Amino acid sequence: MVKNRFDFAVRDMRVGEELTLWRLFHDTIHTVNLGDYSASQVDAWSPSERDQQQWTERMQMISPFVVELDGEIIGYSDVQADGLVDHMFVHKDWQRRGVATCLMGEIVKRAAALNLKILSAHVSITARPFFEAHGFLVEQKQTVTQGDGVTLTNFLMRRALSAGDE
Ligand SMILES: CC(C)(COP(=O)(O)OP(=O)(O)OC[C@H]1O[C@@H](n2cnc3c(N)ncnc32)[C@H](O)[C@@H]1OP(=O)(O)O)[C@@H](O)C(=O)NCCC(=O)NCCS
Repeated sequence: MVKNRFDFAVRDMRVGEELTLWRLFHDTIHTVNLGDYSASQVDAWSPSERDQQQWTERMQMISPFVVELDGEIIGYSDVQADGLVDHMFVHKDWQRRGVATCLMGEIVKRAAALNLKILSAHVSITARPFFEAHGFLVEQKQTVTQGDGVTLTNFLMRRALSAGDE
């Protein structure tokens, strides 16, 4: 367990918590990301009618870890064997309090254990300043198509890792 000044704890997602992560993901996109994307874009990114089984299988596949405070999950992320950070979401009521920084510390720790030399992520407009603050550089601006042909802008970002990184 990793603790920081707010007493956040980091641990693996448990089986049965997948839909808690969906709720956090969905609520954050429809509030926080709504500052940078239109209503139709956030609807396409996270539709209310999502296939729950498919989401559950996806979460089990990417094996996320969570930040927990007093028994509540307030953020989650992951790092894949190829260095991709697939998800990075902080609860809408816990923005700018160091939750994602705590998650990034865990990513870097796990990346070192996997002997990864590079991290990558497809980063939203909203999250770009956070990733830049943590050493990621924009490699490419991208236009991705979600359901119903709605397009969204994001950025392919990468960070080189070296021994001793935090
Ligand atoms: C991006 C996100 C994960 C950051 O989470 P967070 O817990 O608020 O981030 P932290 O509090 O750890 O921020 C650390 C630093 O990153 C930078 N940062 C984070 N969010 C920022 C923002 N919106 N604008 C400018 N800088 C920002 C700041 O330097 C910040 O330090 P400070 O608060 O002392 O100034 C969060 O805003 C989020 O969930 N966004 C919506 C979901 C999303 O877009 N996820 C990425 C999908 S690719």
